[in-house]
This record gives sequence, structure tokens and C-alpha cells, in this order.
Amino acid sequence: MAKNKNNRTIWNTRIKKTTSNIFQKVGNSINIDKRLFKEDILASIVHVEMLFKQKIITFQIKNKIIYGLKKIEKEIKRNKFNFDEKYEDIHMNIEKRLFQIIGDEAGYIHTARSRNDQVITDFKLWIKSASKETDDNLNKIIKTILKISEKNIETIMPGFTHLKNAQPVSFGHYLMAYVEMFKRDKKRFTVNLTNLNENPLGVSALTGTSFNIDRNYTTKKLGFENPTNNSIDTVSDRDFVLDYLYSCSVCSMHISRIAEEFIIWCSDGFGLIHLSDRIVTGSSIMPQKKNPDPLEFLRGKTGKTYGNLFSMLTILKGLPLSYFKDLQDDKEIIFTTHDTIINSIKILNEVLNNFVPNKSKMLELADFGYITATDLADYLVKNHSMSFRNAYEKTAAVVNFAEKKRKKLNDLSLEELKTIIPKLNKDVLKVFDLKNSVNSKKSYGGTSFDNIKKMIMKYKKEL
Ligand code: ARG
Repeated sequence: MAKNKNNRTIWNTRIKKTTSNIFQKVGNSINIDKRLFKEDILASIVHVEMLFKQKIITFQIKNKIIYGLKKIEKEIKRNKFNFDEKYEDIHMNIEKRLFQIIGDEAGYIHTARSRNDQVITDFKLWIKSASKETDDNLNKIIKTILKISEKNIETIMPGFTHLKNAQPVSFGHYLMAYVEMFKRDKKRFTVNLTNLNENPLGVSALTGTSFNIDRNYTTKKLGFENPTNNSIDTVSDRDFVLDYLYSCSVCSMHISRIAEEFIIWCSDGFGLIHLSDRIVTGSSIMPQKKNPDPLEFLRGKTGKTYGNLFSMLTILKGLPLSYFKDLQDDKEIIFTTHDTIINSIKILNEVLNNFVPNKSKMLELADFGYITATDLADYLVKNHSMSFRNAYEKTAAVVNFAEKKRKKLNDLSLEELKTIIPKLNKDVLKVFDLKNSVNSKKSYGGTSFDNIKKMIMKYKKEL
């Protein structure tokens, strides 16, 4: 009897024909959601412990079920478990196997729950640990950037706006900008955890249950903060999925921006950084080429991550409450997004550990494009009591003059400068010094060496 029973789907008393082959093949999700096995088994163990505590099942049945579940967990971990598409998903596969191991008493496991609350419970638990993994990897990236920044506090490069030379900055400061982004990403993932901290288990299919269950008990045992408050919302809600996808999208966008900067900087036109052979690939026809493929990979993958966010938003749009099969796709979407973001963070870390800044080229480029013009304007305001607009105009005239003479600002003599601003003295010449310029930006958050040093120290301590 058990054997026969085990070869059938659970609903075959009601549904007389076997599911269409094509639908069984493409409509199942076992090969995707088997990643939830640990969470599914944990939630089931806690569920039956609660059923026993509430005198809904006996001590013996609870123990038998837990024994079977633990055996199944071992089988899966040792690759000895036969995942069967016929049983759709991880939840039914585990239940089916439980029947094979402990017999008919397995039938008590699904008392007072549905796959609808089961799957969200598993999924929330999974996203919790996925967020932790993401956070750990972001910490590694931040550590790497801090290390490189520390070595490049006094490396001067052009800061750009519109990709045109704007004002000189420290390369360390530039990289530390990305630390800020990744720190915000970490925060976003952490805030999400607070939001998903409500336990869905026990809302059953959509209404709650007539059994005297204890949702506070399962909440505590599973490490959630509170039970969810509305059974219908609980099985319909995928906001926590969107939160994770959005956070990955923003993080991916940050990765894409640094990837793009590095692509520009290592291009032959800029030559500001050199990538080691570990992070370039060749061309099939042009023997000389060393291409920044890993960086382009990072930039490209952002498209996939955004796409996943939009898939989920679109699936949810217009979906009536409560559960529909449409929702099953959430797992594939999250898993591929998670894998992509983890790989991307790891690849970015590889890139960061395998490049060197071309310091002389950075300095050379920083010396181009009248990059210290703003410093002259500031100097005029501070030392010659001009309004900023007036100083701006005078400085623009100096730049026009230099351009006409085909000179850099720091090549102009005091006499030449005085033809435009007569009251200048030789003190002014120091404003064109790049290092001076960088170091003068002492306002909080600015690029002065001291500021960067302090920030690096602070963040190192935090980690
Ligand atoms: N595998 C399903 C999913 O992930 C589980 C929920 C099934 N519930 C149902 N009513 N068919 O969405």
C-alpha cells in the first residue's frame, strides 16, 4: 500500500488524470527550489514540535517525523536524495520521502499548515542567510578598498565632472567614494531583514487555522520577531522579495559604475590604471589585445539584475490576493539574482586586488585642463576680498589668457597674472600646485589627505 501510495501525487483521489506531461515538466520547480531544503526541514521540525506542544499530535508521531526529516536532510546533503519532478517542489518531495521512511504517520506533518505559508517561511529564512552572505562579501570588498585607498592617499588624479577634468583629487578619496556606496548597500540589506522579520508559518492556505496552534512559539524558534498579522496578506506578500531584488539592483549598479570607471581608466586613451594579466582576456584575431572582460561582465550583469527586479514587479502587478502559481517564479528570480550579485562582488574584489594605478599618468592628466582654476577663484575671495562671482570672472579671464598663450596655469608668471589681476602678489602661485589644491579641501568629507586618513581609520575600526 505504502509503495503504491508513494508513487502517486497527493491529490490523485480528486484529480483522476495525471498532469499533462509538458506541464509537469515545465511547471514543476523542484530543480530550483531544492535550494530551500534546509529551511524547509527546519521549519517542519519547528512546526511539528509546536503541534506536539499544543497536543495536536502525539509525542511518538512528533519524534518519528523529526527522525524522518533529519534522515532526509542527511540524504540531501550526501546527494542521495532522488528529487522527482512529479512531486512539483521541495515541499512535496520531502513529504513524499517522509512517507517512504516513516509510513502513514508522515501524514500528520501537514496539519495546520499549507504549502503557501510553508514556502514563504522557507523563503524568508533563506533570504535572511543570503543577506548575511551578501553582507560578508561586501565587507571583504570594503576591506580591499580601504587597503588600496590607504596606499593612495597622496596619489593625485583629476576629479571629473562630465568626464572633463574638474578639480584634482586624491585617488584614495575617489576609491573611498565606493566604500560609502557599499556601506549604504550593507545598510539596505540590514534594513530589509527588519522588514522581513515576521513569521508566516501558521496562516495556512490563506485563512489561518481552526487548530489551536502557537504562532509565537514557531516565531521564536525560527528566529523571527513577530508572527505576521493578516493571513491573506501573508500568503500574497512578496514585498520582501522585491526589497532583496532592489537592494541587489542598487548594489549591482554601484559595481557597474566602478567597473565602467575602470574600463575608462584602463583604456589606451586614459591609461590611468594597469590591469594585471589575471583580469584581462585576449582577442581571437588581434594578438596584441588585453581586454578588461571581467569588468565588462560586471557592467553587463547589472542588466540581468534589473531585469529580475522588473520581472517580479510585473508578476505582482495586478495579481489578486492571495496565492497563485505566478508566484512560484520568485525563487528562480531571487536565486539567480543572489548568485549574480555574489559572483559580481567576488569578481570586483579580484579586479581590485589585481590592478595598479599609473601614478605618473594620473598626475600628468591632473595637470591638464586648467584644473586648479577654482583654487584661484577661492584664493581671490579669501585674499583679495572679492565676491565669488567676481573672482570667478577674473579667473575665467586668466584661463582665457593661458589658453591663448598655450600655457598651463602654473606656467604663468606673476607678471602675466598681474596683467589681468593687478593686485596679485607671488603668494598666488602656490594655488596652482596640485597637491596643495587637494590638501586644501579640508571641509568635512573633502579630499584633503588628513580627512581621508581619518575616514579610513574610522572605517577600519568599524569592520
Ligand atoms: N512551489 C509553490 C511555490 O513556490 C509552493 C506553493 C504551492 N501552493 C499552491 N497552492 N499550489 O509557489
